[in-house]
This record gives sequence, C-alpha cells and structure tokens, in this order.
Amino acid sequence: MQANEIRTRFIKFFGMRGHREIPKAPLVPPNDPTTLFTSSGMQQLVPFLKGEPHPMGRRLMDSQPCFRSEDIDEVGDNRHITFFEMLGNWSLGDYFKKEQLPWFFEFLTEEIGLKPERLYVTVFEGDAVVPKDEESVTVWKKVLKTNAPARKGADGFEPTIKIYTYGADKNWWSRSGIPANMPPGEIGGPDSEVFYDFQTSHDPKFGRVCHLNCNCGRFVEIGNSVFMQYEKQADDSFKPLPQKNVDFGGGLERIASASQNQPDIFNIDIFTEARKTLEKVVVVSSPESIRAVRIILDHLRAAMFMVSDGFEPANKLQGYVLRRLIRRAALHSKIADIDLDNSINLVIDKLCGSYITVDPNLGENQGRILETIRIEITKFEKTLSQGMKKVLSKVGGGTITGTELFDLYQTYGYPPELVKELAAQKRVMVDGKGFEEAKRQHQETSRTATKGLFKGGLADKSDETVKLHTATHLLHKALREILGNHVRQEGSNITAERLRFDFSHPRKLSGEEIAKVETVVNQKIKEDLPVHRTVEEKDKALKSGALAFFKENYPAMVSVYTIGKDPAKEWFSKEFCGGPHVKSTGGIGGIRIIKEQPVQSGIRRIYAELHS
Ligand code: SER
Repeated sequence: MQANEIRTRFIKFFGMRGHREIPKAPLVPPNDPTTLFTSSGMQQLVPFLKGEPHPMGRRLMDSQPCFRSEDIDEVGDNRHITFFEMLGNWSLGDYFKKEQLPWFFEFLTEEIGLKPERLYVTVFEGDAVVPKDEESVTVWKKVLKTNAPARKGADGFEPTIKIYTYGADKNWWSRSGIPANMPPGEIGGPDSEVFYDFQTSHDPKFGRVCHLNCNCGRFVEIGNSVFMQYEKQADDSFKPLPQKNVDFGGGLERIASASQNQPDIFNIDIFTEARKTLEKVVVVSSPESIRAVRIILDHLRAAMFMVSDGFEPANKLQGYVLRRLIRRAALHSKIADIDLDNSINLVIDKLCGSYITVDPNLGENQGRILETIRIEITKFEKTLSQGMKKVLSKVGGGTITGTELFDLYQTYGYPPELVKELAAQKRVMVDGKGFEEAKRQHQETSRTATKGLFKGGLADKSDETVKLHTATHLLHKALREILGNHVRQEGSNITAERLRFDFSHPRKLSGEEIAKVETVVNQKIKEDLPVHRTVEEKDKALKSGALAFFKENYPAMVSVYTIGKDPAKEWFSKEFCGGPHVKSTGGIGGIRIIKEQPVQSGIRRIYAELHS
C-alpha cells in the first residue's frame, strides 16, 4: 500500500474511533528553544499530556513531519533516515492499554493488510521503580491469541513466541531516553513496540544471534505505544501524572516498508521516482553509489521540508543542519560520480510530487527550494577544491589543527564532520577538541560585536523604523481581528525600508483578507490614536489582554505599549514591548502590505512599507 494511502487510512481509522486531527506542528517548533527540530508527534502536546485540557478534546491524532539529526551519519544503509513522518494518536486521560494495543494491531492487519505472523511485540519488563507491564502482556495475549509467556528477547529469537520483554533502555520512552537521563519536569512511561519481520537473514556483524531489537535489519519497529503516566521530580522520584495517557507514534515510511515488504526503505513509493532519476545519472553502479543515492534522497528530502518551512543554510542552529545535509548530499554525489547538477531539478520535482496532495506549501515553495539548494551546492563546489587542497597537503600522517578546521568551516563552509570523513580515508588526523575551542572563541567575539543589534527586532532607531514598529503592533491586532485570535506573533524584523512580521495562521491569506487587514491598520493610523507606555506586573498585564511574544522570557515587571484613547479601558492594541514607538499613530502616515508568503507550515510572513 502506498504511503499516502496509509496516512489517509490511519486518519480515517482513528477518526472513526472518536479522534480529531490536530494541525501539524512546524518542523522547527516555534516556541520551544530547548530543541532544534520537532522529533516526535507528542512534542506539541506536552502541556496536555501533563493535564491541561486540549481545546480539541481527549482523543487526538495527526501525521507529524519529524527530523532526527542523531541518525545523520547512519544514513546510507537500507533503513536509516533523518526526516520522517510520524503517525500519532493520543488519549489524554481517556482510553488506555486495552483499547490502544488492539486498535493498532487491527489497523496494521485489517487496514494495511500486514500478516499477523510477521508481527512481534515487546513490553516493559519492569525495574525498581515501575513494575513489569503485566496489563499489556494480558492484552497482547488476547490480541495475538497466544498463551506463550512473555520472555526476554536478548537471548535469541523464537518465532513461536510473540511477546518479548525488555528493560528501560528499550521499552521506556521519554524525550530524554531512560528514566535516569530525564530532567525534572520531563514526562515519560513504559511502552510497547510492534516489530515487523522482513525475514531477511541475520548479519552476524550485529551479534551472534538475532532478536527483535537487533540492528541487522531483519526486524523493524513500526509503532510504539507509550503509556505516558509519570513526571520526573527534582528528587529523582516519579510522580504519576494527573491522568494516564496514550502517546502512540509510528513511522509512516517504516509502515510503508512493511506493507510493501521492502527492507530497503528507499524502495518505497515516496522515493521511487526520485531514486530512478538519480540511478539514471550514476556512472558506475557500486556499493558507494547505492549508499550515495540513499544519502542524497534522504538529505534532499529533509532539506526540501526545511527550506519550505523557511530555513536557509547558515553556520548555526537549524541553518547549520540544513547546510550540512545539502553539502553532505553534494559531497557523496561527487564521491560516487553522480551528476547531481543536472538531475537536481528533477529529483526535487519528484520528491515534491510525492507530497503534492498533502503539503501544498511544498508546491508553492518548490522554486525557492530548488534555488536555495542549488546556491548552496554551488558555494560548496567552489570551496571544495580549496578545502581539499588543505586536507591533501596533510596526507600520510599530518594533523589538521583545530584552528585550520575552524577556518575550513568558517571560510569555506566545510562542516567539520565532513572534513573528518574526508580525512579518515586519507589517514589524516583531525583535532576536533581544538575546533570546539576555536569555535567558542569566535562565538564569544561575535556575540560582543553584535550585542545591541536588532534589539527587539529593530535594525536601528531611525524615524522610519520606529513608525514601522508601531505599525507592526497595529498589524498584529488587525490580523487577529480579521483572521481570528489564533494569530500570534512568531517573529518580527524591522528596518527603515520595511517591516517583516511572522505569525501563526494555517492558510495563505486571500487578496480580500490582505486588503481588509491593510484597511484596519490605515484606519487606526487615521484615527491618530495615542501610544502609551506603562510598566505592569507580568501576570496582571497578561490577564488584561496584553499580547506577549512567547519566545521571550519576561521578568516579573514588564513594559507594555497600549495604543488607544485610554490605556486602562479603551484601547485597540496592547503588547509587551520595549519600544521605541511614535507618540500617536497619525505620525505613521500610512502603510502598504507588499508581500504575504509561507514561512513554515502554520506560519505566514507579511512584509509592509510606509505609504501615505
Ligand atoms: N513519543 C513516542 C515516539 O516518539 C511515541 O509517539 O516514539
């Protein structure tokens, strides 16, 4: 069954069981500075798993684009990918094990058509804090129609036994892994995984005997039901959450692999067309070229989603990961003699094509995606020969020092991991620690240099910038009036030429909506409303309806700007803000919206300029 069909069936299956589909979170979580990427479906649900009521109810589901960078170096074999879609369903204190486990099994066997004899399950064996998950064992015995006792899998695999028990390293889930690694406040719980048996032969490289959690590729985990019930406390104990939750996640691509019985994940339908395109430009087929094709497919697909979500290659944070993905794809195309320059257009077209019905943003952004990737590859190619010369000068026992490594990274844009990969083949040593130190020193210097720049999103304090800053507040409020109160500021950047405002909204704005927003802002400018600044207690200000930019950490007392006749009762806009602003809105003169575009899924961007 094709991946798109599996996704549709999942949503329908859980929809029929009372679940509502929540909007996907962006690939880069907008209000979570603790993590670079969305790496699981539950990430956006943490407050609700902890007990806050969710506006859409207690049974939720979605298909969430995720990125996990820790697997980047593994990509190239037949099963590792960095970007994937996670099918998810949640019970927020509603149903529990006896519904969840049979439902997922029914979905796999009845909806997707997987053969029950190819499926195996694992449950938590228990430890000093949390007992063995006997309840799941009982439910699974009934579902799998087996009386065989659950047993430990690590000592081998016996096909007649369907239920295996493992410890916390395999059957406990939290965002930080095992219980000992969880920080206070983190939530987690025991889980139950389902594995598909591809019936391939065991590779002894991965151990003497094969078992469900063996990494040889015979068994692949296709779904994980986490029984999210505990919160770690400061004294290392576990407090039960106010409700018992189910947090289920299953990799769409893996379920598709099982359904299409393709142990090579890059053979599933999502990749087929792009893969064929690349294979046509492989000069000599070899293990390296097979590996390179997989790396290109995985990395470019991830890059495509990141660029579509508004990211550009850069030397830090998400931009750095994006740069690394594109450059790694380009490097491997060179190593394996794959003509990426002439095929990239079609590869991106085919990859976008696989999602055309589910992510219209990709279609809208396809041109920008291609251009961004192309530019980055060109930059990389220019620097490749320069960087290569440096590495080659050390061949046969030399060491690339930390400063040289940082120079390669900073000047030529070489990711250090990539230099290591080059260098290792040529027996050149690399000083990774020295690199970290050189990087830290550089960051320190640039932090001091840029201190004060772009404070509050303002490039300077010129009259135009200040006018556009007040106009931004009016725009924020106007967007909420016209589109709804779900609109929230996601970012702002103002220069003397234009304002740029990012906000949450699921769809492209129509021409009519843009015109209405512009009219409201200009009307408020015409009314020449006074702008007041007050200093208020944070909680009181929030209660009074002041808007805050949730990416910021505010102190107990906050500076608030109110636009309206009376800051206590009659105002149009009220926001936490450090200023500066015009004295009254008439001073702005007027504005014109010049562009509206997507930034990430669920986030739009507006550009506007002064216009009287
Ligand atoms: N949170 C679990 C996971 O990411 C299940 O959704 O695997």
